[in-house]
Amino acid sequence: MDINKIQNLKNQAISGILEAKSEKELENLRISYLGRKGSLTQILKEIPSLAPEERAETGRLVNDVKKAIEDTLNSQRVTFQQSSSLEKEWLDVTAPGKRPALGHLHLITQTINEITAIFQKIGFKRVRYPEVEWDWYAFEGLNMPKNHPARDEWETFFIENLENKKRGLGILTPHTSSGQLREMEQTKPPLRMLNIAKCYRRQSDASHAPMFYQFEGLVVGKNIAITHLKGTLDYFAKQYFGPNRLTRIRPFHFQFTEPSFEFDVTCIVCGGKGKLTNGQRCKVCKEGWMELGGSGMVHPIVLKNGGIDPNKYTGFAWGWGVERLFMMKYGIDDIRLLFSSDLRFLKQF
Ligand code: PHE
Repeated sequence: MDINKIQNLKNQAISGILEAKSEKELENLRISYLGRKGSLTQILKEIPSLAPEERAETGRLVNDVKKAIEDTLNSQRVTFQQSSSLEKEWLDVTAPGKRPALGHLHLITQTINEITAIFQKIGFKRVRYPEVEWDWYAFEGLNMPKNHPARDEWETFFIENLENKKRGLGILTPHTSSGQLREMEQTKPPLRMLNIAKCYRRQSDASHAPMFYQFEGLVVGKNIAITHLKGTLDYFAKQYFGPNRLTRIRPFHFQFTEPSFEFDVTCIVCGGKGKLTNGQRCKVCKEGWMELGGSGMVHPIVLKNGGIDPNKYTGFAWGWGVERLFMMKYGIDDIRLLFSSDLRFLKQF
C-alpha cells in the first residue's frame, strides 16, 4: 500500500477540518473520512488483505491517522460550541456593575471626628489620656479629697490590687477631667486642650452606659474669663447643631470649677419654644432647652495642683458626653442603640 497516499489523506483531512466554518461542515468531513464509506475506512478495510510484513506497519499508521483526525475534529467541535454559547449569553460590557457593600465609620467615631474638627479650627489640640487612671488625677487633684461626698456622683470602678503610693488607687477613669491635670503637667499656658476618651461608671439605663465617651476642653491663659467660656461653647453649639441655636449658662456646682455652670442649647425639635407648631408640648425638651453638660472656670486649687500659678493664670473647662451630643442632634432616646451593632440602625447615619 502507498504510504504517501495515507500521509496525503491525513494532511488533506486535517487542513479541511481546521478550515471548516461550521459544525455541519465538520460533520460532513467526518463522514467523508471516517464514515462507513469514508476514504480512511476504505483503507482500513484493505489492511487484512495485505502481505503480513506490510500489514502491521500499515495498520499502525492508519490507526494513528484515524486518531489524529478524530482529535482534530473534537477540538474544533469544542471551539465551535464555546463561541456559539458566548453568542447566546451576550455580555453587555456597558451595563453598570453591582457595587460591593460599602461600610462607614461607626457613628460615635464620626461624631468624635466632627467634634475634633470644630475645635481644631479654633486652635485646640486633640489629646488622649489613660483610661486606667490614678485617684489623684480623677478626684483628689481635682479638689475632691478622699471620702468627699461629691465623689458619689461618679460611680467609680476600682481596679483590684492597683495602688500608687503618691497617686492613690487605680480606677477606670469616670470622666475626662482627669486629663486636665495631666495636660497642665505637660504643657505650660497658654493651652487649649481637647481630650476625648472612654469613661466608665457603674450605671446602665436608657441614657447611661457603663462605658461611654466624653470630650473635655481646657483653656488656660492670661485673663481668661467666663465670656471666653460662653463664646467658645456657643461657637461649638452653632457649628454642631446649626446656626439658629441659642445657648445659655446656668449656675451649678462642681468641686473643680468655680463658678460652675450647666450649658444648655435650644431644642432642635421645637426651636426653643417648648411647643410644637400644633400647640402640643415638645416631648424632647419640655421647656425649650436641652442640657449639654457641665462647665466652669478652673478652680485655683486645680491650677495649683497642675503646677500653674492661679495668680497669673485663669482658665475654663467643660466635659460633655459624645453619645449624648449625638442623641440630642438626631432625637435618639436610648443610648444602648449606639452600642448594639444593629446594622438597621447604624446604616441610617
Ligand atoms: N467632669 C464633669 C462630669 O463628668 C464635667 C465637667 C468637666 C464639669 C469640666 C466642669 C468642668 O460631669
